[in-house]
Amino acid sequence: MKAIIIVILLIYLRQTVSLECELCDGPCRCSGPYLYCDNLNLTSALSCTDPPRTIDFSYNKIEVINWELFANSTAQNQYCHNNFRNNAITASTGTYRTNQCNRVILSLGYNALRELPSGFFVTDSGGGELFEFSFYVSNNRMRNIARGSIIVHNIIGTLTIYFDNNEISYIPSGAFDFHVSRTFTLYLRDNYIVSLSSTEFSHWLEISSQSLTIYVEANNITTMEYTEELAFLKSNITVRIYISNNPLVCDCNLRWIADTNSSIRQAIQASGLPFAPRCKTPDILKEHTLMSLFRQNFTCPPKLDPNATLNVQAISGKQLSLRCPFAKADPPVEFYDWVFTPSNPPPSPISGWDSQFATTTKTDQLIINNFSSEGIFKCTPLFPKSSVSVDINVSFDNSHETSTEEKINKKALFCS
Ligand SMILES: *[C@@H]1O[C@H](CO)[C@@H](O)[C@H](O)[C@H]1NC(C)=O
Ligand SMILES: *[C@@H]1O[C@H](CO)[C@@H](O)[C@H](O)[C@H]1NC(C)=O
Ligand SMILES: *[C@@H]1O[C@H](CO)[C@@H](O)[C@H](O)[C@H]1NC(C)=O
Ligand SMILES: *[C@@H]1O[C@H](CO)[C@@H](O)[C@H](O)[C@H]1NC(C)=O
Ligand SMILES: *[C@@H]1O[C@H](CO)[C@@H](O)[C@H](O)[C@H]1NC(C)=O
Ligand SMILES: *[C@@H]1O[C@H](CO)[C@@H](O)[C@H](O)[C@H]1NC(C)=O
Ligand SMILES: *[C@@H]1O[C@H](CO)[C@@H](O)[C@H](O)[C@H]1NC(C)=O
Ligand SMILES: *[C@@H]1O[C@H](CO)[C@@H](O)[C@H](O)[C@H]1NC(C)=O
Ligand SMILES: *[C@@H]1O[C@H](CO)[C@@H](O)[C@H](O)[C@H]1NC(C)=O
Repeated sequence: MKAIIIVILLIYLRQTVSLECELCDGPCRCSGPYLYCDNLNLTSALSCTDPPRTIDFSYNKIEVINWELFANSTAQNQYCHNNFRNNAITASTGTYRTNQCNRVILSLGYNALRELPSGFFVTDSGGGELFEFSFYVSNNRMRNIARGSIIVHNIIGTLTIYFDNNEISYIPSGAFDFHVSRTFTLYLRDNYIVSLSSTEFSHWLEISSQSLTIYVEANNITTMEYTEELAFLKSNITVRIYISNNPLVCDCNLRWIADTNSSIRQAIQASGLPFAPRCKTPDILKEHTLMSLFRQNFTCPPKLDPNATLNVQAISGKQLSLRCPFAKADPPVEFYDWVFTPSNPPPSPISGWDSQFATTTKTDQLIINNFSSEGIFKCTPLFPKSSVSVDINVSFDNSHETSTEEKINKKALFCS
């Protein structure tokens, strides 16, 4: 009787051990619900019929990760933590079974992923809601993210994606297929993103049902577009945006962010003062926090029209019409300063000008009746204050007397 009990007990104990993981007989170490297979120079993950809830394959030499690792597991509702940090992973195979997990933590940081190809991580359609799903792919060299690269069929309560320190500049629409019932947090720090729109920002707003937090610090964002604001206005979730350490250009294109009713402004403010983004340019606003500025601080200076003709031919004694070739100023230029330097002094005075050959116009047009001396006209947009100016060289055209009239009109008017 005693012997039978012992045998039954032994069988029971053996089964318990094997339930934990048969790999413990091999190179790995086990401890309670943990399986440690780290630092073994493995080139593929060993498979386990009944994996414990935490498996650690970090610091090996795995190149292709096989999500079928847990295909035969009978475990249910586990906290599935799979650590594959510091390997050489560039690709994946298989389908991840979520039926045994109520939480999934996948660590693929410090691997060799250059891209996330289509179908990189796909779950089967089993299982209920995943209370939590965290996906770490930080510190790889991912540049491209394909459509359908991560597909999770289960509803996810709390979704966190870590893409920090990669080379991502763009996330295409449909890159991920998720259904998030509570909160979504996306880490995209230290990448090459140039605009929130290129991260599928409006899609994140749609799939998050309670809150969305986006970390895009230390990227290449120079401005934010009003279309992003409009996408935001349509959603009613709580959003936080961490956007400091970007080369923000605080010009007229970003003026709308000074409106206290702006949703993106509020989302940035919600990230807290220590993370306040600062302007990189223009110099006058450098290091000022975005939130400390008013509408009138955001201006666009006049820009030289690249098509402007800066050499003009005129006919002595006729009318000369010039345009100060600047555009795109916001607020618009209100006054232009003109200074004439005649090439053969002393010239005759110009009617309406002061003795230093200087005048001011309210528009960018300058008209001189009876133009009588060649020389250089320097024009400067005066208000709002700017430091730009341009020289227009006016000389007499004596070669084709008959057709000059037409020529003057064509050339002197520039393009407007
Ligand atoms: C793994 O490989 C390295 C270098 O080839 C070697 O030094 C180390 O001892 C190996 N580790 C194991 C556990 O075999
Ligand atoms: C799962 O079980 C099947 C059938 O018993 C077997 O062929 C397969 O190799 C097992 N898969 C793994 C990953 O252990
Ligand atoms: C960041 O943007 C600037 C200006 O558009 C560009 O010159 C630079 O190459 C970009 N840097 C990266 C890492 O994409
Ligand atoms: C947000 O709006 C949708 C409809 O547009 C509504 O179903 C949902 O309950 C709202 N959520 C909150 C938190 O107000
Ligand atoms: C915020 O207010 C300004 C002026 O009060 C208005 O022009 C603008 O459309 C408003 N923006 C939003 C997003 O409601
Ligand atoms: C921003 O505009 C306000 C109001 O015009 C002005 O007082 C302030 O000096 C400006 N700030 C900067 C940094 O130019
Ligand atoms: C300059 O001219 C080209 C060709 O005619 C035109 O496409 C472009 O828009 C012009 N640029 C400006 C700033 O007017
Ligand atoms: C035009 O200017 C020239 C030279 O200053 C002068 O001799 C001539 O009378 C002027 N003609 C008119 C119509 O003002
Ligand atoms: C102005 O144009 C004339 C005729 O093309 C030329 O001879 C002269 O050198 C130019 N002057 C300057 C300062 O560019």
